[in-house]
Amino acid sequence: MSNFLSEVKDITRIERTAMHSHIQGLGLDDFLEPRNVSQGMVGQKSARKAAGLIVRLIKQGKIAGRGILIAGQPGTGKTALAMAMSHELGEQTPFTSISGSELFSLEMSKTEAMTQAIRKSIGVRVKEMAEVLEGEVVEIRIERPESLEGVRKGKITLKTTDMDSMYEIGNKMMDQLSELGISSGDVISIQKAGGKVTKLGRSYSRSKDYDINTSNINFVECPSGELQKTKEVVHMISIHDMDVINSYSRGFEKLFLGNTGEIKQEIREKINEQVLLWREEGKADIIPGVLFIDETHMLDIETFSYLNRALEDDLSPILIMASNRGITRIRGTNYKSPHGIPIDLLDRLLIIATKPYEYEDIKHILKIRAEEEDVEIDEEALEMLTNIGVETSLRYAIQLIITSDLVSKKRKGTKVKLNDVRRVYTLFVDVKRSSQFLKEYQKQFMFFENNETEEKEKKEKEDENSILIEDLN
Ligand SMILES: Nc1ncnc2c1ncn2[C@@H]1O[C@H](COP(=O)(O)OP(=O)(O)OP(=O)(O)O)[C@@H](O)[C@H]1O
Ligand SMILES: [Mg+2]
Repeated sequence: MSNFLSEVKDITRIERTAMHSHIQGLGLDDFLEPRNVSQGMVGQKSARKAAGLIVRLIKQGKIAGRGILIAGQPGTGKTALAMAMSHELGEQTPFTSISGSELFSLEMSKTEAMTQAIRKSIGVRVKEMAEVLEGEVVEIRIERPESLEGVRKGKITLKTTDMDSMYEIGNKMMDQLSELGISSGDVISIQKAGGKVTKLGRSYSRSKDYDINTSNINFVECPSGELQKTKEVVHMISIHDMDVINSYSRGFEKLFLGNTGEIKQEIREKINEQVLLWREEGKADIIPGVLFIDETHMLDIETFSYLNRALEDDLSPILIMASNRGITRIRGTNYKSPHGIPIDLLDRLLIIATKPYEYEDIKHILKIRAEEEDVEIDEEALEMLTNIGVETSLRYAIQLIITSDLVSKKRKGTKVKLNDVRRVYTLFVDVKRSSQFLKEYQKQFMFFENNETEEKEKKEKEDENSILIEDLN
């Protein structure tokens, strides 16, 4: 059962990133000025610039114990902005992303789930000397077995500017290489113990294959000297992973399975002590990463005060939250406050506002999404989709891309045309039309309730939203 639950959670996570798979960064230049369209990001310039500044402060370690709130109407790119920040921070800064609703899982208490998320966002960087093979990949050759029972055989040739050598590689190594997308021309490093592969970049000798100005490929020199060397290698592990490994005799397996259960307070205290000691002895660095909590309106007063306290801790990550709510009730209380966040926590937050998109921005985002989803689309159809996006919502318009493509494929078309978009627009209703429909046919649905209090609540909600819009402009 618990396995099944964690699977379900993973799926929501994949979906959340897939929606934003076109985003590779904030698209800023060296002075943190946003380029109009870059790294998959379009418009929303002041928010991107602010986010860039935060990323810089985080990298310089100047913003611990603080929080950021990204606030704006639905579909204005709040989650996208957070994903872009995570790309900018790179692999060396832990970034944990959860959604407010995930905290209410059946497996553990809210505070336990929150503590785990916080501890996943704090990294410990340990340095040690290790034997590595480091060189530019000349060739990877994998022989597929002829029968199903046969074993794959593989060889990799690496070179430095002074020598080259061929090595046999096993199954695990082959999988790693293909997962990392390693091909000839990449400069890689392989740890002899454990066989962990790291991609250092692409060799300069291949730079003419790319337009250096537009691609964000990291070019490096082909290494010189011996292929095998002793090097300082850096391991990064989160303190949550340390908690888990030290909680069970087969902690590593637990980590891979993802069902870690609740962790004892004594273990956490011990790990904290250990990590702080390592830091003192210069054996490790503590890297405060980012905990991103999306859809914060799902958090309640208990979780908020827990977060508030956690931010004051010695070991605390940078908190980034996103909310599309205006002045609204704080869950678990009768009090209202901006974004439904208690004032004392709000006071610690820097707020980044996102604004609704204009026609041209929406058009550009849709175009990028169509490319990302491998859908060819006619100019006329794109304009129609854009108009739909302006009238309804950006998200609804994005959903229509793949569905229009299906309709187009069904008529054996190669490109999405105006009529395909029209067709799906009539097949799938947007929220506005859906509620219109409900109003007309309400009596035929289940759980229909429409008395005065509902009307009043709706009115209140509209007021809230208008406050949000006023706030942000
Ligand atoms: N500036 C942008 N550049 C490129 N793509 C964007 C931009 N803003 C939003 N998108 C894309 O538009 C879609 C909707 O944006 P997103 O999910 O980030 O909105 P949101 O503000 O988080 O909305 P909600 O309040 O409903 O959570 C996503 O697919 C996102 O990747
Ligand atoms: Mg969002």
